[in-house]
Amino acid sequence: MNSQLITVAYLFSGILFILSLGGLSKQSTAKQGNFLGIIAMTIAVAATAFDPRVGGYEVLGVSVSVGAIIGAVLAARVAMTSMPELVAILNSFGGAAAAIVGVASFLDAPQQLSDAERVIHEVEVFIGVFIGAVTFTGSVIAFGKLRGVIGSKALPLPGRNFWNIVMLGGSIYLGTQFVGAPHESAALSLWIMIGVASLFGVIMVLAIGGADMPVVVSVLNSYSGWAAAASGFMLGNDLLIITGALVGSSGIILSYIMCAAMNRSFFNVIFGSFGGKGAGASKNTGNGEELVHTSIDADEAAVLMEDAQEVIIVPGYGMAVAQAQHLLFEVVKLLIERGTKVRFAIHPVAGRLPGHMNVLLAEANVPYDIVLEMDEINADFATTDLVLVIGANDIVNPSALDDESSPIYGMPVLECWKGKQTVIMKRSMGSGYAGIDNPLFYKENSDMLFGDAKATIGAILSTLRSKSSSKAA
Ligand code: TAP
Repeated sequence: MNSQLITVAYLFSGILFILSLGGLSKQSTAKQGNFLGIIAMTIAVAATAFDPRVGGYEVLGVSVSVGAIIGAVLAARVAMTSMPELVAILNSFGGAAAAIVGVASFLDAPQQLSDAERVIHEVEVFIGVFIGAVTFTGSVIAFGKLRGVIGSKALPLPGRNFWNIVMLGGSIYLGTQFVGAPHESAALSLWIMIGVASLFGVIMVLAIGGADMPVVVSVLNSYSGWAAAASGFMLGNDLLIITGALVGSSGIILSYIMCAAMNRSFFNVIFGSFGGKGAGASKNTGNGEELVHTSIDADEAAVLMEDAQEVIIVPGYGMAVAQAQHLLFEVVKLLIERGTKVRFAIHPVAGRLPGHMNVLLAEANVPYDIVLEMDEINADFATTDLVLVIGANDIVNPSALDDESSPIYGMPVLECWKGKQTVIMKRSMGSGYAGIDNPLFYKENSDMLFGDAKATIGAILSTLRSKSSSKAA
C-alpha cells in the first residue's frame, strides 16, 4: 500500500471514529455508533499492517490473533457490573504500550533529524513515557481496587500533596536533564523518571476511595488517550494523534460530567480522598430518637402497583447486580396494559458506570420514550402515586439536599420521596457505594421491600399475573 493510500485510509478511519462517538452519545444510535467504531478500527489496523515500513508478518499475525481472541473472550464474558474493571485493565495496556513505544523510540531514535526536530522528538518521548507510566501503574491499582484485590478504602500517604508536588517537580527536572543530553545520561534520566512516574500513579490512585473509582478510571482512560497521541507524534502517525486526542478529550469530558453529577470538583475527586472514610449519617435523629422503618412484602407491593395511576421506577446498582431488568419490564408491560402510566427515572451516576442503567434497560427492550433523565423527570415525583426504587440508594438520598454534614451534600438526587408512596427494594438496610445511611428509608411514605431485586420482582410478577388471570376467568 503506498503512503498516500494509507493517509486516505487513516483520514477515513478518523472520520468514522468521530461519527462513532457521535452515535454513542444517544441510546437510539448507540449500536450504529459501535458498528462504525468497529469498521474504523478494522481499517486502521489493516492500513497500519500494510504500511511498507511494516514487516515481520508472522509475528504480527500471531500476536494480533492471540490478542484478538483473548480480548473477544474476555469482553464476551464480562458482566456489565465488572465493565469498569475491564476498562481499567485495558487502560493499563494503553499506558504500557505508550511507555514502551516511547522507550523504543528513544533507543532507536530517527537519525536524520535537525537539532530542533531532535528536541521536539525528545520532548514527545519524555511526555509520552511519563503519561504512559502513570497510566499503567494507576490503572493496575484501579483494577485491583475494583476487583477487590486491594482494599477499596482511600489510603492517602501522609503529606501526600507535598510528595505529589515533589514527584511532579522531580519529573520536570529530569525532563530538562533528558532533552539534549548525551545518550547515556539521557537514558539515566529516563529510567529514573519511569520509576518516579510509576510511583506517582500508584500513590495517586491508592489515595482515592472506591466510590470515586469510576471517575478515576475515566481520568486514566483520558491519560491513555493523551499517551497514545504522544506516541502518534513520536511515530509520525496521524491516526494515532487523532484517536489519542479523541480518547483523551472524551475521557476528560466524561470525568467532568460524572463529577458534576456528584457535585464534586475534579480536583476534589483526584486529591480529596472521598469515599474511603466510611462516613455515615447516624440512624438517630438529632434528639437521640431511634429511627424506624416499615416493610411490606411482594403481595402488598403488587396491590400498591395495581392501585397506582402513575408509577415512576428508579433503578440503581442493585438492579444491575440482580439482573432484574428483564422481569421488571414484564411487570411494566402488565401495568401499561392496565392503563398505568409508567416511566423510568435515570440518575446520571446510577450504577457503576456512565449510562449503566440505560444499557440494562435497552438490553431488556424497554422503549426509549419511557426512560427519562433526572432533569426531565425530577419535578414529576410530586404528582406520582407510586415510586419503585430498585436497588438504588445514594442517588435517592435526601441528605444530599438537606444535610450539610453529609459527604454527598450538594449532589443532585432523584427526589422520589415527594411522591405519594415510595417502595424501596433492596436486601437490607445496608448503605450504598458512598457508605452512608439513607433517611429516605425512614420516611412516613416509604416502605422497604427486602430481598434480592430479581426474586422480589419475580414474586410481584407472579402475583400480578395470577390476579389478572383470576379477573379474566
Ligand atoms: P448504591 O448507592 O451503590 O446502592 C445500591 C444498593 O443496591 C445498595 O444499597 C444495596 O443494598 C442494593 N443491592 C445490591 N445488590 C442487590 C440485589 N441483588 N438486589 C437488590 N438490591 C441490591 O447505587 P446507586 O444508588 O445506583 O448509586 C451509585 C453510586 O455509585 C453513587 O454513590 C455514585 O456516586 C457512585 N458512582 C457512580 C458512577 C457512575 S458513572 N455510575 C461513577 C462514580 C461513582 P443491599 O446491600 O441492602 O441490598
